[in-house]
Amino acid sequence: PSVLILNGPNLNLLGTRQPEVYGRATLADIERDCRAKADTLGLAVDFRQSNGEGTLIDWIHAARGTHAGIVLNAGAYTHTSIAIMDAISSVELPVIEVHLSNIHRREPFRHQSYISKVAVGMICGFGPFGYQIALEAIANHLGIATP
Ligand code: DQA
Repeated sequence: PSVLILNGPNLNLLGTRQPEVYGRATLADIERDCRAKADTLGLAVDFRQSNGEGTLIDWIHAARGTHAGIVLNAGAYTHTSIAIMDAISSVELPVIEVHLSNIHRREPFRHQSYISKVAVGMICGFGPFGYQIALEAIANHLGIATP
């Protein structure tokens, strides 16, 4: 089975973007670690990033039939996008929500997540390691035995 790992706006700048909040790992570092983790779980990985809300929605639509589930860090669209929430509801694929930072100890406008309303679950505050946890969570949700 293949998992779509989707990253939203500004996550292409990881490594140099507010390192005191998001750390020094780049998105390429996270992708490499996801591929290694997915290998151990017997999952294929399709890892993408877009700054565009519509592009993310198009990718969610296209995942139906090609991917078993989605790991999603929607960036700031998390807090604003009814459209991404609706896209997730429309495709009926399991989504695990990830955030590098603990959104609940940050500004109040980050406490609300439209993604959480339709996700299987949400992982936040563990930095890049959250993606590893999310891959285990999706494998478990899909009934794949984890080593
Ligand atoms: C983020 C948290 C969001 O509030 C923020 O807009 C991001 C990154 C995270 O991974 O911690 O872009 O999703």
